[in-house]
Amino acid sequence: MTIEYKNNDSFIDGISLKKIAAEFGTPCFIYSHNDLVKNFSEINNVFASEKRKVFYSVKANSNLSILKVLLELGAGFDIVSLGELERVINIGAQPEKIIYSGVGKSEEEIIRSLEYGIHCFNVESFSELERINSIAVKLNKVAPVSIRVNPNIDPGSHEFISTGIETTKFGINLKNMMDAFIYANNEKSIELLGIDYHIGSQIESLDPFKEAIISVKKIIDQLKKNNIYIKLIDMGGGLGINYQNNDVPSLKDFGKTINQVINDNELSDYDFIIELGRSIVGNVGYILTSVEYIKKDSEKNFVIVDAGMDNLIRPALYGAWHEIKPITDNKDQNILCDIVGPVCECTDFLGKDRRLSAQQGDLLIISSCGAYASSMASNYNSRPKPSEIMIKNGEMHIISRKEKINDLFSREIIIS
Ligand code: LLP
Repeated sequence: MTIEYKNNDSFIDGISLKKIAAEFGTPCFIYSHNDLVKNFSEINNVFASEKRKVFYSVKANSNLSILKVLLELGAGFDIVSLGELERVINIGAQPEKIIYSGVGKSEEEIIRSLEYGIHCFNVESFSELERINSIAVKLNKVAPVSIRVNPNIDPGSHEFISTGIETTKFGINLKNMMDAFIYANNEKSIELLGIDYHIGSQIESLDPFKEAIISVKKIIDQLKKNNIYIKLIDMGGGLGINYQNNDVPSLKDFGKTINQVINDNELSDYDFIIELGRSIVGNVGYILTSVEYIKKDSEKNFVIVDAGMDNLIRPALYGAWHEIKPITDNKDQNILCDIVGPVCECTDFLGKDRRLSAQQGDLLIISSCGAYASSMASNYNSRPKPSEIMIKNGEMHIISRKEKINDLFSREIIIS
């Protein structure tokens, strides 16, 4: 989706950003329903079949309306906490379309998931496997599991989001995985469904995905030698998006290539799941923010806006780049500046060394804020979380109301 400039304003799916700011205030999140449907359908149309399913990784953006749109388009859900579990149950997802990943599943989380009857636990350690088994025995249930292996593949992404390298906490290393498979295969209260991996996020080339499938093929051959037969391969997520003219494969090309690699490696008899987050919602969302002050009296120029690291922590955490533009088509990029928020941290920047034309009161639009923005937001500096708006069929819908100041301390208790 491109933002359309017109009449000294900008429009997303036909809706004026000035109008959104006037009605809902800034900062606020804006999502395009149209783009969400387009993205999910693009991958689902190419990849989904009787044996292949597209799951959405809830952590990317867990807003109920976003989940509901994806549910209606046929998505399954990849979750990592009780909170995410209850969110997807709340929107009416069938438990058989839920898979549970994450290294630290608590007893409570495992019990609840078994009671609901989720499709599969992606198990990340031997001790987790033992815990799931003992809970399943106690509840007199059979726990469906896949073993998450760590295939030691470098996805070429930021160090903090490269999960498939051996030194991270994720999955079971290749040298130890067989014990887990054997245990899962032997225990009566466990049903071994398959193998799972997730090598990282914001992956911009298809090669690491191909490499991972080839590595899984070898693991399956090793399993067969131990008389272990699985039926499911969950290949995680990780496809990147365009933040700054990076040349990322489209969802369609990704899906086609994966299908091809599955066929080339004679894995077509297996059930496949992909768990995409960012590539489905990342470029569907924006943050609209106002310029509070222009500060030209220090070493650097600062454009101080009303959105901050509490709304978008990615620049502070990963040095991530997000496009930031005025909503008017102003071509003079006359200030070299850092665009910063009001939070009291040096890392509270949204863009560094940008050329921008901005004045106090101007509206700026920050792109690629659909994934890992709202879902990673905080209340740091006691700042309320902003409204989230979805544009659907030419209308604005509130999908999350702005937090009230009272919400900020509603859980707190003053002791005497
Ligand atoms: N499956 C598992 C097991 C995951 O851990 C993740 C993301 C996904 C699927 C979805 O990955 P995606 O398709 O969205 O790349 N906060 C970071 C990204 C962290 C990703 C965590 N895991 C960021 O803002 O870049």
